[in-house]
Amino acid sequence: MTARSAVAAMTAYTLELRHASVKLNQNESPYDFPPELKREVLARMAERPWNLYPDFESSTLRTALAKAYGLEAENILVGNGSNELLDAAVGAFVGPGTPVVFPRPTFTLYEKLITIAGGLPVPIEFEPESGLLPLDEMLRALDGLRGAVVILCSPNNPTGGVLPEGGLDRLLATGATVLFDRAYGDFARPVILSEAKDLFGEAVSQKRSFAVFAAQDDVIPLHDRLVTFSTFSKAWGLAALRVGWLASTAATCREIRKVKLPYSLNTISETIATVALENRAIRDANVAKIIAERDRVVRFMKEIDTIETFPTSANFVAFRSNLKLDDFHKRDVLIRDISSYPRLAKCLRVSIGSRAQNDAFLTALQELA
Ligand SMILES: Cc1ncc(COP(=O)(O)O)c(C=O)c1O
Repeated sequence: MTARSAVAAMTAYTLELRHASVKLNQNESPYDFPPELKREVLARMAERPWNLYPDFESSTLRTALAKAYGLEAENILVGNGSNELLDAAVGAFVGPGTPVVFPRPTFTLYEKLITIAGGLPVPIEFEPESGLLPLDEMLRALDGLRGAVVILCSPNNPTGGVLPEGGLDRLLATGATVLFDRAYGDFARPVILSEAKDLFGEAVSQKRSFAVFAAQDDVIPLHDRLVTFSTFSKAWGLAALRVGWLASTAATCREIRKVKLPYSLNTISETIATVALENRAIRDANVAKIIAERDRVVRFMKEIDTIETFPTSANFVAFRSNLKLDDFHKRDVLIRDISSYPRLAKCLRVSIGSRAQNDAFLTALQELA
């Protein structure tokens, strides 16, 4: 059987399957969900009949998200990872010939979804050195494009840069529909340094200042032409559970809901995400540790003059060097080769892990560089 020509010309989303003791290749959290909370969820699950479908409206999780983020449940859709919701939103807003502006290099899934929908990809290529996404170039491209859609993630995967201040408002002012992926947004939050022993626990609190977050960082902007996508896979450390959510106005959510598959989020994942939201301080403590580690890793890397690191506000660092993925893999450290992305020749990306994992990476780097 022959697939549609647009699909036949595509490559599948791929991940090279390798194993190593130190796994820093998928921007996962190094921190697992606390065992006592795992037990609590399993106890709740044992009570719940498994022969019945999940709640059709995912009301419990949507209400918990609404409370946590100052929204109403009608502003929220939940799904099987934010990937599923990106797919649904592209399905709702991108049709044959719809121009879709996006920075490149970026998360490769966007271009695949646009292509499958028959949209017209309008990639805006940029250099990652500045740590900023190409706002002015995107605005210029949007000028004169009618009915355009913009897709971007800030911080950007795989480079780590962000949209310049005020960028979202300026993109919306063009009249475009903006699909804004905040998968790594928690790692870009402005932080206040303080002694926060109670929050971070004994293991990490000794004599150190850690970052705590201002409450306004969990505020999600709402606009009819703006959809924000969030995930439990990164900052919340729940990648195995596949839970994502989107936020927009009730009217826009109703449109996307027409495209999204029913029952895509299973009861177990929904319950775990709800329990996670009841324990938000765990996320905040983990994010603060990751940010502190990121800054340490970057400082170390900047000392090595054969390496160029790109500014990052995410839980990963992209860098250019003469080093190869295999060099690290031989030392039992798995990172990501991003050299095939446009403008990222000779580039690798390392996720920020635990202190011990990062030390293993930095030791390998020092030996190799
Ligand atoms: C930019 C970006 N958006 C979305 C996702 C996918 O998130 P989820 O696990 O919620 O599907 C990723 C995963 O790496 C990502 O890098």
